[in-house]
Amino acid sequence: MSIFKDSPFEILLTQEQIHTRIQELGAQITQDYQDKDLVLVGVLRGSYLFLADLSRHIDLPLIVDFLAVSSYGTRTQSSGVVRLTSDLSTSIVDKDVLIVEDIIDTGLTMNYLVENLQTRKPRSIRVCSLLDKPARNIQPVTVHYLGFEIPDKFVVGYGLDYMGRYRNLPYIGFLSHPPVED
Ligand code: IMP
Ligand code: MG
Repeated sequence: MSIFKDSPFEILLTQEQIHTRIQELGAQITQDYQDKDLVLVGVLRGSYLFLADLSRHIDLPLIVDFLAVSSYGTRTQSSGVVRLTSDLSTSIVDKDVLIVEDIIDTGLTMNYLVENLQTRKPRSIRVCSLLDKPARNIQPVTVHYLGFEIPDKFVVGYGLDYMGRYRNLPYIGFLSHPPVED
């Protein structure tokens, strides 16, 4: 069965909507970082498609690096405990860091990351997230570049997963019958 044909997901954001917004974000970031030393820090694995597309719309000689965090306790609920499972491979001292994330849910992951990276003496740190679910925010996060605010639904696709799957859907969808929690 093709996941693209008989998909069990309802579409929340189409490929076109995502693409248009990424062009806008890229143009804004290009303007804002003219005289800076930009490092895009992608948060694996959810941001891999977003970062790939966004970086191609930023017209600057930027650096790309990645780190990975793990925060999920059950299938769709954050455990609240954030762990760095893979670190950057380059120094960010005196760099202008832009953290690129798929979604801000509780805000715990992003707060942890900003605090962690701040200790490494970058010149600046900002946050770019494709999605934000304000209804679920527990810790406030300043998102300087936001793709879309979305309702309180568990979404998949365009990098976002449910139990490791559906990241490769080209759109962002949600389950019309949400999974029962463990
Ligand atoms: P937070 O720490 O609660 O803000 O969680 C952030 C992380 O949880 C994101 O980077 C995602 O990996 C994951 N996450 C949160 N909401 C969703 C969702 O609706 N679909 C898929 N992953 C999600
Ligand atoms: Mg993530």
